[in-house]
Amino acid sequence: MDRAAGIFLAITILTLSLISLPTNSHQFSTKLNKREMAKREKLSHLHFYFHDIVSGRSPTAVRVAEAAATNSSATGFGIMMLMDDPLTAGPDAGSKIVGRAQGIYASADLSRTGLMMALNFAFLEGKFNGSTLSVLGRNAVFSAVREMPIVGGSGVFRFARGYVHARTHFFDFKTLNAVVQYDVYVLHY
Ligand SMILES: *[C@@H]1O[C@H](CO)[C@@H](O)[C@H](O)[C@H]1NC(C)=O
Ligand SMILES: *[C@@H]1O[C@H](CO)[C@@H](O)[C@H](O)[C@H]1NC(C)=O
Repeated sequence: MDRAAGIFLAITILTLSLISLPTNSHQFSTKLNKREMAKREKLSHLHFYFHDIVSGRSPTAVRVAEAAATNSSATGFGIMMLMDDPLTAGPDAGSKIVGRAQGIYASADLSRTGLMMALNFAFLEGKFNGSTLSVLGRNAVFSAVREMPIVGGSGVFRFARGYVHARTHFFDFKTLNAVVQYDVYVLHY
């Protein structure tokens, strides 16, 4: 190896070791510059339909728990459901699947029908594929519009904050199956 190549190699090794320094420094906390990130902040609106299928041969939401008093409660207080509900682009169940709503809803109001929703929207569509949004909120299902907070997200929805509006599109009192229109307003990076 000639002298120039030796110097080049030494500089390369030095540079690489400087770049990897933070991971080897055992530093617990580092303040990062958020200015560049703040410039990338976006406000997105998503629109889709949520299909909650509780009866029939292949339900997507199932009862996993209840209280002794659930069946005699006017609001079904104490019932807990686990869902993996499809999300579609249009109101028709056969329209394009854009994601799934996975999580829990439970009757948490003794006097008026109100659900506690804790769910992840797991998206499958385009650049949103693999990204999630987490929603935690109160869902008074017989109100025309229910607002629930977005408490976080992953992938393209890192640092997510915002809210959703849920509107019942279709509800069958016999089967209890429902189609709910969702409008999502989310700030993310
Ligand atoms: C409540 O009703 C459901 C549906 O009819 C039934 O499966 C369940 O066993 C009942 N639970 C109690 C505690 O009676
Ligand atoms: C979403 O990502 C998964 C896993 O990477 C992939 O198998 C699937 O084809 C993707 N779907 C779409 C619609 O891009």
